[in-house]
Amino acid sequence: MVTCTGPVNIAVIKYWGKRDEDLILPINSSLSVTLHQDQLKTTTTIACSRNFQQDRIWLNGKEEDISNPRLQSCLQEIRRFARKRRNTGGSTSDVSSVSHKVHICSVNNFPTAAGLASSASGYACLVYTLSQLFGVESEQLSAVARQGSGSACRSLYGGFVQWKLGERSDGKDSLAEQVGSESHWPELRVLVLVVSAEQKSVGSTSGMHTSVGTSQLLKYRADVVVPSRMEEMIRVIRQRDFPAFGELTMKDSNQFHAICLDTYPPIFYLNNISHRIISLVHRYNQYYGETRVAYTFDAGPNAVIYTLEDHLPEFVQVVRHFFPPEVNGAEFVKGLPVCSTELSEDLKRNINMEPTPKGIHYIISTKAGPGPCVVKDPNHHLLGADGLPKKSAISD
Ligand code: DP6
Repeated sequence: MVTCTGPVNIAVIKYWGKRDEDLILPINSSLSVTLHQDQLKTTTTIACSRNFQQDRIWLNGKEEDISNPRLQSCLQEIRRFARKRRNTGGSTSDVSSVSHKVHICSVNNFPTAAGLASSASGYACLVYTLSQLFGVESEQLSAVARQGSGSACRSLYGGFVQWKLGERSDGKDSLAEQVGSESHWPELRVLVLVVSAEQKSVGSTSGMHTSVGTSQLLKYRADVVVPSRMEEMIRVIRQRDFPAFGELTMKDSNQFHAICLDTYPPIFYLNNISHRIISLVHRYNQYYGETRVAYTFDAGPNAVIYTLEDHLPEFVQVVRHFFPPEVNGAEFVKGLPVCSTELSEDLKRNINMEPTPKGIHYIISTKAGPGPCVVKDPNHHLLGADGLPKKSAISD
């Protein structure tokens, strides 16, 4: 039995569109920041035993269908790697276990209602845990996670991670690679602004399928825009150039949502609150005459904010002022502590926006963090000695 944890990642150059739907091969490269697991993580325990009758999986306390094709791809691929290692005598772990059935139990420490994609941390953690269980060491692990969910391949590494689209039709070169470690840019901070959504939005898998079929802008983005943006993004991250990083991050998020509007029928992921957050960020930056804060949005209305440590307390106070929360103090800002500060009247006047009460539910304050980790303490296993979920694993 092995237990591991895996992180969430948030793209600053977005992945949107596949050239192969089965292998999950993208039409463009992408780049993300891996978030710290102290705030957001998936924990997965996998056991194998000759006594298990079939492969089984429990997600957040509920048994799910193991026949899900993406899940099956990941299981088959890891077992193939494990057999290859066994045949070449390279494995250090109990080689007979490869033919045993597995029980998988996985929980997220963040509510699904927070609207954060759990598929990236979920599949990355699944594949990493399987690799530990079967003693598979491979540079191809990200290609396995990719077959669970595209963005999951980036969660196999900490810090700043690119997913290179690759050229091969078998996908063997469509892999994630670290661009900078989690300690590369210690001043960089992340805020997840959890916005209330009235309705569930179109899932990313079906959304990007429709975009590939209908949006001409998407082709231009993949062929022309992203290749140069990837180079620039890697350069500004290496130089820790926040104004350039922030501007490029916002432009890429905006282009992704423009593609969604260019999709037919159009897809709307941003709501009124998202639009107000965008205005607020631009007005704040305008006031200082430099990019101090940047937003990015995925397939939903929640904003992820990148900023530097020095500007964090003031910006959080700005958010509190313009989106007066329902709850106060620590309840509103979860995660890494944020110092309190006063806003100048001049700043408030210059931002010049009507406050929107309760527009933002809460904020998760975090930073860049490491890739998947093994949990050594057996008390943290989610499965009991009988191979079934412990009571404590039935939480969200
Ligand atoms: C907007 O990885 O969830 O978050 O490969 O179909 O599982 P599938 O899609 P998914 O798409 C993520 C899209 C995005 C941008 C990104 O994370 O790069």
